[in-house]
Amino acid sequence: MIASLPIPPPETATPADLVSAIAQLKREMRALILAHYYQDGSVQDVADFIGDSLQLARQAAATSADTIVFCGVHFMAETAKILNPAKQVLLLDLAAGCSLSDSCPADRFQRFIAEHPGHVVVTYVNSSAAVKALSDYCVTSSNACAVVNAIPREKPIIFAPDQFLGDWVSRETGRPLVLWNGSCEVHENFSQTRLVELQAQHPASRTLVHPECPLPIRALADVVGSTSQLLDAVRRGDPAGTYIVVTEPGIIHQMEKAAPAARFLMAPAETGGTSLGSCTHCNTCPHMRRNTLEKLYWCMRNRAPELSLDAELIARARLPIERMIAIG
Ligand code: 13P
Repeated sequence: MIASLPIPPPETATPADLVSAIAQLKREMRALILAHYYQDGSVQDVADFIGDSLQLARQAAATSADTIVFCGVHFMAETAKILNPAKQVLLLDLAAGCSLSDSCPADRFQRFIAEHPGHVVVTYVNSSAAVKALSDYCVTSSNACAVVNAIPREKPIIFAPDQFLGDWVSRETGRPLVLWNGSCEVHENFSQTRLVELQAQHPASRTLVHPECPLPIRALADVVGSTSQLLDAVRRGDPAGTYIVVTEPGIIHQMEKAAPAARFLMAPAETGGTSLGSCTHCNTCPHMRRNTLEKLYWCMRNRAPELSLDAELIARARLPIERMIAIG
């Protein structure tokens, strides 16, 4: 239990109070704060490490901290726990889920696998621990092509749960894949018509697209890649250029730091807004946005919510994750 209450009552605490309280709690707890690029900028700014799914899993695998505080969504914290069964893993809000993960219940996936005997099972890390436990390999959007290329060509492959990422991997690698029909509620909602209009208004712009988007959106891209690969494209690109960003807008926080003179335009959504309400021109992940600086403070202060997983499930889900970390 933390002895000190390092901030004023939360009603009167300023963001600066929260930032210094979080730093103090981090020292006292010997904690590592990990944040995905889709987190709110205020949360990214207090993290020890900000990254894409693969980079965060690698950091979780390598840490000597006592506690991992995950600023992301449930499957990411689960991955950290599977890699660190003896450590405490905290997640700011246990309800921070993922539409892709929800689209693939383990019992249905088990039947799907049984219908395709002899197939190697490759699952996107955006899936539950129970689905990972049924898999031969996990992948992220950073290394999905490298993992599929590492599987002998004569082996047939199931790819789940994202049909659009799977379609992209299939085209990039030239391998036919048996696809599960899941999709991400953020990436499937970009508007092709409105993106074409935006590109016409900014003819010198570069369009950066996450591979979870459907083919008609990917076909409009200058660069298709994971969040870290899109950020790298900005780092390597015109420092004063215009970029159309076709993924969750949280990534723009780091893009603006990488290229302060550049201009970033969020690609328009097909339908306005999310359950968070007011955003009519962007695709914001309602799960990622559950996390706030205040929740980070209380999560560390209370050491809760804590993510726990059955030891037997951890043992079964670990190998495909270790293979994912090793490749690409
Ligand atoms: P990254 O592999 O780019 O981190 O993608 C994460 C994600 O969940 C996209 O929706």
